[in-house]
Amino acid sequence: MTPLIAVLIAYLIGSLSFAVIVSKAMGLADPRSYGSGNPGATNVLRTGNRKAAALTLAGDAAKGWLAVFLALALGTRLGLMPRDIACVALAVFVGHLWPVFFRFQGGKGVATAAGVLLALDWRVGVATLLVWLIVAKGLRISSLAALIAAVLAPLLMFWLAPHREYFYVSLALSALLIARHHRNIRNLLNGREGQIGTPGKDGG
Ligand code: G3P
Repeated sequence: MTPLIAVLIAYLIGSLSFAVIVSKAMGLADPRSYGSGNPGATNVLRTGNRKAAALTLAGDAAKGWLAVFLALALGTRLGLMPRDIACVALAVFVGHLWPVFFRFQGGKGVATAAGVLLALDWRVGVATLLVWLIVAKGLRISSLAALIAAVLAPLLMFWLAPHREYFYVSLALSALLIARHHRNIRNLLNGREGQIGTPGKDGG
């Protein structure tokens, strides 16, 4: 029963879409109504409000981190096994993608995945974040940075993580994240993907 409750709580934490919450609190438009329509930090930045984008990024990353951190911290007392921790990690990510509080219209999972990875294995989290930062700074394309980091994360997890279950869940996270970027991938291939802070050539 306990793992199931932990998974449910993680899903509810993941369902807190900070792009929508922060935008509402700061009097900005709902991010699902402009730009790429994605409730995520990259799209919130298209309003030109850096503070709102930073708060979205921090909130979405923090919820991923918190859910897994709590499961790990309380794991021994609650009898959670590595596979249960992996399920919690997946649940918080799924909550972000399909949030129960926001008509299941969630984001693409980049910030939440970063938080999850940091909590599962900080070395993988830091390395993945660094790769994201280098690509994002160099090419200024958020989605491309996320896609490259998503390919790298499971490889690092396979190499470094203490439990094979953490590799499996990072593989699942990356697969979902890449699938969620299908429109970005099409735009990248067509040369239509916008740079950070600007709308794409098709508005996304
Ligand atoms: O974090 C999401 C990013 O990778 C792409 O966002 O709004 O350009 O589709 P967006």
